[in-house]
Amino acid sequence: MHTAHLTIDPAFKVAPVSRRTFGTFVEHLGRCVHTGIYEPGHPTADEDGFRRDVLELARELGISTVRYPGGNFVSGYRWEDGIGPREQRPRRLDLAWHSTETNEVGVDEFVRWCRKAQVEPMMAVNLGTRGIEAAVDLLEYCNHPAGTALSDRRVANGAEEPHGIRMWCLGNEMDGPWQIGHKTAREYGRLAAETARAMRALDPGLELVACGSSSSAMPSFGAWEAEVLQETYELVDYISCHAYYEEKDGDLGSFLACSTDMEYFIRSVAATADHVGARLKSRKRIDISFDEWNIWYLSRFQGAAPPADWPVAPPLLEDHYHLADAVAFGGLLITLLRNSDRVRAASLAQLVNVIAPIMTEPGGRAWKQTTFHPFAQASRYAAGDVLRVEPVSPTYESADHGEVPFLHAVATHTEGEGTTVFAINRATDAPLSLRIDARALGGGTRVVEATTLTDPDVYARNTADHPDRIAPRPNPDIEHDPLTVLLPPVSWNVIRLG
Ligand code: AHR
Repeated sequence: MHTAHLTIDPAFKVAPVSRRTFGTFVEHLGRCVHTGIYEPGHPTADEDGFRRDVLELARELGISTVRYPGGNFVSGYRWEDGIGPREQRPRRLDLAWHSTETNEVGVDEFVRWCRKAQVEPMMAVNLGTRGIEAAVDLLEYCNHPAGTALSDRRVANGAEEPHGIRMWCLGNEMDGPWQIGHKTAREYGRLAAETARAMRALDPGLELVACGSSSSAMPSFGAWEAEVLQETYELVDYISCHAYYEEKDGDLGSFLACSTDMEYFIRSVAATADHVGARLKSRKRIDISFDEWNIWYLSRFQGAAPPADWPVAPPLLEDHYHLADAVAFGGLLITLLRNSDRVRAASLAQLVNVIAPIMTEPGGRAWKQTTFHPFAQASRYAAGDVLRVEPVSPTYESADHGEVPFLHAVATHTEGEGTTVFAINRATDAPLSLRIDARALGGGTRVVEATTLTDPDVYARNTADHPDRIAPRPNPDIEHDPLTVLLPPVSWNVIRLG
């Protein structure tokens, strides 16, 4: 057995928890929209064709924002195709995913779905094949009250109130050669700056996100952020980060420590942004929108041929997550929270079917993947302030990240209400006895609830037939004096103190 400890002191604040950390992402990709959130013929479909079973799961997941409509899809998208009478909407080839887009769902339907799910919409504009004019037109259509051609069209399409969308992404992954309309940092930085200037002229209260790197492994990583921010610094609020991780060559130790790369990514981007700010003599601080993150077995997808015959909503990127994926995923969530002073928004990519916590059968059931649980628990219990907990843990050697601790943890605290510790044990061979020094919380501090997500088989998954094979269960191994909780090998843990 390994032993580790951490310290909880409400004085060691990182930042308030940002609800936007629990954002997610709906792209016109595979079955995320069609047979995901939207399926008119489904037994649970509501009057708008939205699946009620998916809506319920999305609410239970506790999502705060939803980014839309892409992703790679947005870089070839004409937003006007998705408004007005459905029967008049064009079918288009989607070059990003080699599919046919029916445009049955567009911005008005998406916002309606968000209102039903009680989440904040976050839009991306096409800076691949289009530019300033299309971005400003979309903004006017969405946010201007009425009395202009575009805003009156929205009213005529049934949305009398403006959509009031505050967060906007200026394109998507423009550093990637796979992106339609891929650009150099200088080309993109200039276009993003001028698009931001025009959008702000229409609505000064917007929060704008400039595209950062598609991963920390991009050859242009670092240089890209510096050049883009040099052009856009005073015009945007966030720079984006995207990161996906997978277990490679059976190296579970490295995989469970993938949050080490995310930490490095965040620190490097924050330092680069501050460096540009210093060069520009600006007192403004650029925050990070980590608006795509997840476990994704990208290497399997890259080996597959694109769908033949341009199908509508083919099953794409449908990863089925096991326990180890959920634990690595939990580690990423912990890292996002630990960096809450800089990461003020994040989007789990994606919400349904496409590398997603929720899976559906067309016409049938919906169920929770293993990764659903860390997200739902963190969203429910992370509240108040994020605390630095200074974990002290034995370490192991990993091929990809060098020496890493078995324990990865963070805590949040709300004065007068309670404290929650989120922790993963990365050890594959032994439990970890975690002592929690909570003296600063006062004498009577007790464990109110402790749950653990674990399984003897680290590759066990949930399925439609066995949707609860992997789910949080009460952790019986608690001692109160000193406060100690036993974390099983390869586990995600939530410990609530009161
Ligand atoms: O989330 C899947 C894809 O990953 C997105 O479309 C793209 O932005 C990223 O490369």
